[in-house]
Amino acid sequence: MTLLDGYNTAKKLNHELKLEIDKWKGLKKPTLAIIHIGNNAASLSYIKGKISAAEKVGIETKLIHLKDQISQKEVEDNILILNNDPQIDGIILQLPIPKHLNKDRLIDLISIDKDADGFHTFHQGLLYQSRETMVPATPLGIMLLLETYNIKLNGLKAVVIGRSNIVGSPVSRLLQDAGATVTICHSKTKDISAYTKDADIVVAAVGIPKFLKADMVKKDVIIVDVGINKVEGKLIGDVDFEHVSKIASYMTPVPKGVGPMTIHALLKNTVKLYVNTMKKRNSI
Ligand SMILES: NC(=O)c1ccc[n+]([C@@H]2O[C@H](COP(=O)([O-])OP(=O)(O)OC[C@H]3O[C@@H](n4cnc5c(N)ncnc54)[C@H](OP(=O)(O)O)[C@@H]3O)[C@@H](O)[C@H]2O)c1
Repeated sequence: MTLLDGYNTAKKLNHELKLEIDKWKGLKKPTLAIIHIGNNAASLSYIKGKISAAEKVGIETKLIHLKDQISQKEVEDNILILNNDPQIDGIILQLPIPKHLNKDRLIDLISIDKDADGFHTFHQGLLYQSRETMVPATPLGIMLLLETYNIKLNGLKAVVIGRSNIVGSPVSRLLQDAGATVTICHSKTKDISAYTKDADIVVAAVGIPKFLKADMVKKDVIIVDVGINKVEGKLIGDVDFEHVSKIASYMTPVPKGVGPMTIHALLKNTVKLYVNTMKKRNSI
């Protein structure tokens, strides 16, 4: 089994991104604003990872920390300020956010020119028409990882478990665009094994530790494990790594698989937005 090493792949791709950013020395640096609402411990740790990776490649970050009880209007005002700030190239709203807030409305308020997560309905619309767009970070990171290992998806049978707007659905579309025949499974799917056993590649984005077991997949399957589940202080994926890794041909570990690639893709998206903006201003 070949490990799909997201950690070292992201390190290499981040270095390449740094070299690109270094070319614009003397100009305004690419800048990512991160809006964080409340005190979700997992979110805080993801944000730390994003800020640290951004700094290493030369992307500036601005963290806007808002209190748990903030009103919809106050969050919207913060987004509008960032939309109009010429220093800011990319904006992300760290999810999840408190339930009293209207997430969809907030995401759609982010300027399409600064939507670094690609969650805006405009960008999602383009994605589902297979057009050039801002691709959400996790799906983009997965595709870059598969590309790095020269995994050809054309003609493969793919099964994606999970249909969220941030992972399952967009990655399904990207796999389809790459020539795979895609089946999407979710909580209402009966007998998921019947689908996964027949799959050449399985992407697990369920949020249930060790959901995908060895008897659910065929020999030489390619496994992408998106899950991040904290169990007794340890990070566990959605795939039973110990047993599935004995059958798979390629497999991502958890941690150090999809996670670092997601961060790389976010940085790549930020640079893409920066370049678009700087070109519009005739600055590069
Ligand atoms: N590595 C990374 O960078 C990264 C990034 C994002 C997310 N994640 C992780 O990836 C996992 C999924 O994230 P998400 O945001 O997509 O989660 P989500 O929004 O909760 O979606 C989970 C999906 O799994 C499906 N599901 C739940 N229980 C199921 C079951 N018993 N059988 C089959 N399908 C089931 C749900 O089906 P329904 O639609 O029918 O409810 C839903 O589509 C989580 O562990 C999350 O922490 C990792």
